[in-house]
Formats: sequence, C-alpha cells, structure tokens
Amino acid sequence: MTNPDTTNPDTTNAGATNAGGTNAGAVNGATMKPAALFDVSGKTVVVTGGSRGIGLMIARGFAESGATVVISSRKADACRQAAEELSASGGTCIAHPADLSTPDGIASLVERVREISPRIDVLVNNAGATWGAPIDEFPDSAFDKVFDVNVKAVFALTQRLLPELRAASREGDPARVINIGSVDGMTVSASDNFSYGASKAAVHMLTRKLAAVTAADGITVNAIAPGPFPSKMMAYALDDPELRSGVLQRIPLGRTGTPEDAAGTAIFLASRAGAYLTGVVIPVDGGLTGAR
Ligand SMILES: NC(=O)c1ccc[n+]([C@@H]2O[C@H](COP(=O)([O-])OP(=O)(O)OC[C@H]3O[C@@H](n4cnc5c(N)ncnc54)[C@H](OP(=O)(O)O)[C@@H]3O)[C@@H](O)[C@H]2O)c1
Repeated sequence: MTNPDTTNPDTTNAGATNAGGTNAGAVNGATMKPAALFDVSGKTVVVTGGSRGIGLMIARGFAESGATVVISSRKADACRQAAEELSASGGTCIAHPADLSTPDGIASLVERVREISPRIDVLVNNAGATWGAPIDEFPDSAFDKVFDVNVKAVFALTQRLLPELRAASREGDPARVINIGSVDGMTVSASDNFSYGASKAAVHMLTRKLAAVTAADGITVNAIAPGPFPSKMMAYALDDPELRSGVLQRIPLGRTGTPEDAAGTAIFLASRAGAYLTGVVIPVDGGLTGAR
C-alpha cells in the first residue's frame, strides 16, 4: 500500500512535470514559490454580482492580480461604476448589466462573455438575494425570488459557459467554478430566512454534483461559504449595534470578514495552489460553523 503523503512526487502524475509551461507544477516542487502558486495574472474571470459586497471584493482581488474580470449585476450604473473604478486602479474590468434570475439575463451575459473571450478560466457565481419574514408571513414568492438567482442561475450559467471553461482547461491547471454559498446553508440561521438557507444548502450540493460531473473535463467546482461580511445584504444586522454585537459574539475570531478574506480564498481556489480541490465547501467564517 502506498501512503500518498510519502510518495515521491516524481513517481506520481500530479505536478511531476511542468506541462506546456502552465502552472501544472514542478519536479520536486522546485519552482513552487508563493508568487507562482497564487498567480492568477492573465486569467479571464467572470464574477456575477460583482458590483458591490463580496462580489466586488473578489473582482477587485482578481483585477489587482492582473486578471481580466467581467462583472455583472442588475443595476447598470452601479455595475459600470464598479468596473470603471477597478479599471482605473490598474486592473481590467468589463461591466455587463443583466438580471441573472431570468433566462434572457443569463443568455445576454453568456453572449457578452463569448465576445470577450473564447476561454473562461474562472467563473465566480456570487450574485445572490435573500428574504426575511416570520414563518406565518413568509410568502411563496420568496422561494422563487431567492432560488432563481441563488440556485437556478448558478446551474444555468455554469452549464452555458461549459464550452469556454473546457477551452480554458490545461493539464494541471483546470478551469475553475467558484460558487458562493453561505454558513446559513451549513447550520441553522438565527434569521427568518427560510428560502435563503435552503437555497444555500442547495448551492453546496450543486457544487458537489457539478464537481463530480465536470472533473473529467478538467474543471473544478468548489464553494466558499462566507460567514458575516459587511455588505448591503448584511446591513440590517451589522448596522444595528445590538444585532451586530450578537453576530460578533457567535464568531470565535470576533470579527466580520474582510475583502482580503473573500478575495484571498477565491484567488487560492483559482490558482495553482487550489488546483487539487474540487467539490469542497470552504467556510470563511471566523470559526462560526466549526464552533457550533
Ligand atoms: N454578506 C454576507 O455576510 C454573506 C454571507 C454569506 C453568503 N453571502 C453570499 O455572498 C453573495 C454576495 O452577497 P453580498 O452580501 O455581497 O450581497 P449584496 O451586497 O446584496 O450584493 C449582491 C450582488 O448580487 C447582485 N445581484 C442580486 N440579484 C441579482 C440578479 N437577479 N441578477 C444579477 N445580479 C444580482 C447585486 O447587484 P444588483 O442588485 O444591482 O443586481 C450585487 O452586485 C451572495 O450569494 C450571498 O448570499 C453573503
């Protein structure tokens, strides 16, 4: 029996050669300097919901690392403004406003992305919505509203962009899909967000299923499950001193997430460093889920 931890990398097919000048790896890890391990420069990245919040944090991280980033969201002005801001700070960012809860919105983003590049290295399915109401008042429509963007759009966009993801895949350097789930899809939330928690649990399982099906195409699919990050979605809790203190008390590390936490995890998953992960859900939550 071989212990994979002690196998000489020269005798495995993972990272033993530097195939075609890609980041496939190096003999005995000789060239695995951190700068190369986490390099995402030159990649083409699509970030849905990239106009603000966690999507903007991730889009900025890629743009500032030398990737070409396409962002999409419904509000056209905010989307264009975010892209202009990222481009002005030295990155390359292109805005494409679209409502991804609709088939037309998905189709228009796919068409635009294809005009920009025949190869998509990284797709970040981040756009999301939530709804809160006590159980007796929770409307049926809040399931459609939330599931359409949080779950159906994740599948639809990934499915439609498979040709471009396959085209980007290289030996040792797979194309990457990163879905943004939530700790609320892992543990029961204190909020009355019935459709939201269910949608995020669905995102996590969809991630695992897509990972299993697309691995043979050289595509990895992973999810980031954020804990509380300051954003418009979380403003109701984090802007209220009493609610905020309750939120912070539940986080072992005692703080909310930062742009570095969101972008850092996404860049890890998109780089050579993250090439051997697929089908995993990574909580980025200051210990919230681990401590429950
Ligand atoms: N913040 C947190 O603490 C937290 C925790 C766990 C998970 N998450 C997840 O992280 C992701 C980002 O959340 P956030 O907190 O950054 O929220 P946010 O500030 O409300 O941002 C959501 C983004 O998605 C876009 N969007 C919403 N509906 C859309 C639609 N139908 N079509 C296209 N774009 C749409 C929004 O732009 P428009 O409104 O202009 O469309 C915006 O760019 C979501 O999936 C959320 O569930 C957040």
